[in-house]
Amino acid sequence: MSRYIIEGGHRLQGSVCIQGAKNSALPILAACVVGCGEHVIRNCPQLSDVDATVEILRHIGCKVRRDADCIAVDSTNVTAGSIPDLLMHEMRSSVIFLGAIAARIGDAQLSLPGGCEIGLRPIDLHLDALRKLGAVITEEGGRIHLSCPDGLHGATVALSFPSVGATENVLIAACTAKGTTTLINAAREPEISDLADFLNRCGAHISGAGEGIITVEGVRKLHAAEHCVIPDRIAAGSYMIAAAVTRGDVFVENIIPAHLGPMVGLFESFGCRIDMEGRRMHLRAPKRLKAVPAIRTMPYPGFPTDMQAPFMTACAVAEGTGVIVETVFESRFRHVPELLKLGADIFVDGRTAVIKGVPVLNGAVVGASDLRGGFALIAGGLAAQGETTVHSLRHTDRGYHALDTNLRNLGARIRRINDDEEKDEKEYRAGSAGFAE
Ligand code: UD1
Repeated sequence: MSRYIIEGGHRLQGSVCIQGAKNSALPILAACVVGCGEHVIRNCPQLSDVDATVEILRHIGCKVRRDADCIAVDSTNVTAGSIPDLLMHEMRSSVIFLGAIAARIGDAQLSLPGGCEIGLRPIDLHLDALRKLGAVITEEGGRIHLSCPDGLHGATVALSFPSVGATENVLIAACTAKGTTTLINAAREPEISDLADFLNRCGAHISGAGEGIITVEGVRKLHAAEHCVIPDRIAAGSYMIAAAVTRGDVFVENIIPAHLGPMVGLFESFGCRIDMEGRRMHLRAPKRLKAVPAIRTMPYPGFPTDMQAPFMTACAVAEGTGVIVETVFESRFRHVPELLKLGADIFVDGRTAVIKGVPVLNGAVVGASDLRGGFALIAGGLAAQGETTVHSLRHTDRGYHALDTNLRNLGARIRRINDDEEKDEKEYRAGSAGFAE
């Protein structure tokens, strides 16, 4: 199993440039299916979830070329509307292809994504919304079959919860539907606005993205376009946590400061000094963080659920007691038992965690069970005294490009060992007592 080995206790200093947003890149790549021609998407992060999306695009007939962060998707020929189970299981958010394939060829088949490591993840809101737009959807044996016998048409769709994925599916599907779609209680995340910007570049008529009501006036067809993905606010927040728990002094470059709004006040409450300079943020952490008032995860512009686990690590080393309430996902505390192994003092009751800060964490062997929880453990390892091993890097590989390189550039002592490097590791252990860069 791939793992990181971290020698903790080193202060992070320097600057880190933030990758493109995973949660923008994935729906934008899926949306390339709707407009015919060669799209060019820049600033796509190099992540395993992006690899899986590219595999799906190729499977359904698109030609895809990749050059580092730039992905060209030629969607002239979309020949298949069916996504194999293996590719669906690779990445839960492949459900975002439903709206795109429905709009383009009117017939899609894929397996139900089911639960995942952060709890049940139903897609009822996606399916109900697409039905309102005229899709006929049947579910059998864990597979969904979507067809559009009369094409898609505009409709008023009200979401009972502002689901990010359901909002994206509706936007993508409604672009070329006949008539006007009004989406009520839409998700307002910056990634929704980025997707809408891309679709509008392709010729769509979307207004109100980023607000609770979005209007889509259907057009006959979309064309190809170029787009640059926004910076990843969750990756930015994660590096800020790494700096905060190591008494760090770090510049986070290439961000959109407004997107970090829900987090900045909390960093200040922790006692960090934050200065904004254009598209970069300077974070200076105190010797010891102070506990923050209760944190409650909420849809944007509230505090993001994706930052809940990393913030828990900061609470774990802060002076005083903090409370975190997870309201978005039903089971997103699987990092807690692993943080306990590092010496954290955390009590969980349902969706509430009470974190009593300890003066010091101690290195241990821990395993990631989801993407952001994995980062929380890495941050814990950076803060801890001694050596921490974090297993199951397939989770963090889904969301952080060049994580160990970036952290090393900031002064962290972190090494990655891949499956095939067991032998090298044994030799290294035998021949050296120190920590190799
Ligand atoms: C997206 C993000 C994920 C983030 C989440 C919330 C991507 C690829 N992923 O996930 O990183 O944590 O937003 O900000 O963008 N729900 C239903 N029925 C549905 C859809 C959702 O009950 O049909 C529930 C979910 O179970 C969950 C809540 O709504 O409890 C939020 O889900 P949603 O906003 O849809 O998240 P995702 O789009 O899956």
